[in-house]
Amino acid sequence: MIVGNAGQLGRELEKIFAGLGPIVGVDRESVDLADAAQTRELVRSAAPDVILNAAAYTAVDRAESERELAYAINEGSPRVLAEEARVRNALFVHYSTDYIFDGGKTTPWIESDAPHPLNVYGASKLAGEQAVEDIGGKFLIFRTSWVYGPHGNNFLLTMLRLGRERERLSIVDDQIGGPTTSIELARATHAIVNGIVAGRFGAAEDWAGLYHMTCGGSVSWFGFARAIFARAAELLAAQQPALTPIATKEYPTPAARPRYSVLSNAKLRERFGVELTPWEAALEETLQVLRGAH
Ligand SMILES: NC(=O)c1ccc[n+]([C@@H]2O[C@H](COP(=O)([O-])OP(=O)(O)OC[C@H]3O[C@@H](n4cnc5c(N)ncnc54)[C@H](OP(=O)(O)O)[C@@H]3O)[C@@H](O)[C@H]2O)c1
Repeated sequence: MIVGNAGQLGRELEKIFAGLGPIVGVDRESVDLADAAQTRELVRSAAPDVILNAAAYTAVDRAESERELAYAINEGSPRVLAEEARVRNALFVHYSTDYIFDGGKTTPWIESDAPHPLNVYGASKLAGEQAVEDIGGKFLIFRTSWVYGPHGNNFLLTMLRLGRERERLSIVDDQIGGPTTSIELARATHAIVNGIVAGRFGAAEDWAGLYHMTCGGSVSWFGFARAIFARAAELLAAQQPALTPIATKEYPTPAARPRYSVLSNAKLRERFGVELTPWEAALEETLQVLRGAH
């Protein structure tokens, strides 16, 4: 069962998991995830062996004024899905965010670092992590960051659109993170789930838990935008606006964001032997996909 199969990550999961067995895709038309009874009923009738939860309330700024809804989707819904998975002894895969950290470090965050979200979205996602961990069983939580891909609402597609509309853009240069593609996330998830199903990683107590999962390297939003336009000019004949680096304080938003939220993937690598590609190569691949779709 792929919950949120119309989202950025959900779409890629649905593609890559096509060979593992029959898939039940769940989108907003099949269920309102804010409704626990409806969600429970849906899982019971589908009776899945694996639940991949790619759904979330991801509107970081809007969450500041929609706290209740953000918690219903980011805490309530994974709790229900994890409970139903536990009852069925199904594998439950959930995703979380770098925004559970406050950004106060200057070296990559590891799984055991203390979380301290700066905004409602981060706090609701942290509550979701904790709910899933409390329920336990056969679960995986993958914390990722700065997710983008060929579809959906994301920084890459916003930049390409703004590049067509404007001659100059000011981009924040003092927030550093790890841009990660939906394609790479789906690929890594697939490799791990396949390995678990095939019994390559041992029993649940050997692998269940929380892991960071991001593309390699780090960059600021400004550096990311610069890389996007440099390659998009060549691959998509995209216009290149003049880019100006600015400080976060010059671009006020309702939700505060961490200054440094790069995640270390050492635990993922050591436990599963899986490593996502560096962000530059993942960007290249995504632009190639967009070129192919032109
Ligand atoms: N995007 C990022 O930068 C980022 C960064 C770090 C971590 N993550 C995490 O990565 C995971 C995947 O994110 P994503 O970027 O792929 O998310 P996304 O593109 O926003 O997709 C989320 C999906 O959940 C669905 N959904 C939301 N509320 C729902 C409801 N009440 N009922 C039914 N469906 C509902 C959305 O449907 P609608 O489109 O109809 O609302 C959408 O299809 C999430 O756990 C997210 O928190 C994302």
